[in-house]
Amino acid sequence: MALAPIRLGVNLDHVATVRNARGGAHPDPLTIAKALVGSGMDGITIHLREDRRHIRDADAEAICAWAGKPVNFEMAATADMLGIATRLKPHGVCIVPERRAEITTEGGLDVVSRRASLRQDISRLHDAGIRVSLFIDPDPAQVEAAAEIGAHVVELHTGAYANGRPNEIARLRAAATLTTKLGLECHAGHGLTFSNVQLVAALPEVIELNIGHYLIGEALLIGLPNAIAEMKRLMIEARL
Ligand code: PXP
Repeated sequence: MALAPIRLGVNLDHVATVRNARGGAHPDPLTIAKALVGSGMDGITIHLREDRRHIRDADAEAICAWAGKPVNFEMAATADMLGIATRLKPHGVCIVPERRAEITTEGGLDVVSRRASLRQDISRLHDAGIRVSLFIDPDPAQVEAAAEIGAHVVELHTGAYANGRPNEIARLRAAATLTTKLGLECHAGHGLTFSNVQLVAALPEVIELNIGHYLIGEALLIGLPNAIAEMKRLMIEARL
């Protein structure tokens, strides 16, 4: 039986990182997003971090207003971010844990211990018409808690797998199966590359991958549209 199509969300945070290195306006994430339509990118992911180290408020505002592709708005569950998200109304919000000192999002959200507050946050975002995803480690207890508090989507953190622990694919597979069994949509991401993406893309329940850093790195060699097209080709091939 043919598997459901798989979408590629392109994380543009590091376009802003390059821009911010010189403090000017170039390269501009919205201009890049517009240029990528037709490359195989199905959606745009941006993470407005508390310290605004890459994407800034004006980027988030412009990209959400453009709406040329669905926007997946990653954020920490803070009052400030909830206010911004409910005002900008992206297609989806992905709630991620955030620690100031981390280089990137190092682990999944602990939904189990934060059920009560996350339930309220999800309900507020749903009331604003925004689909909510929770970025979690592939742990059955976290998947069950995400379902219990009303998330529509979980995004499974693939970092441990990408960091060279191939046995992690079994945990990802089990978590993906449980996610759909509980009626949620399953996404995945973090640390994915041309060489490790196919085992994740082959998981039948996973219908979206969010990929950023590697694509921006490959873009230096082959250009961002080509890097996206190749990543999408590998994802599709993995599901044949
Ligand atoms: N998904 C989430 C929730 C993330 O926080 C990140 C990193 O910003 C990614 C996907 C993309 O990870 P990478 O940049 O390693 O591809």
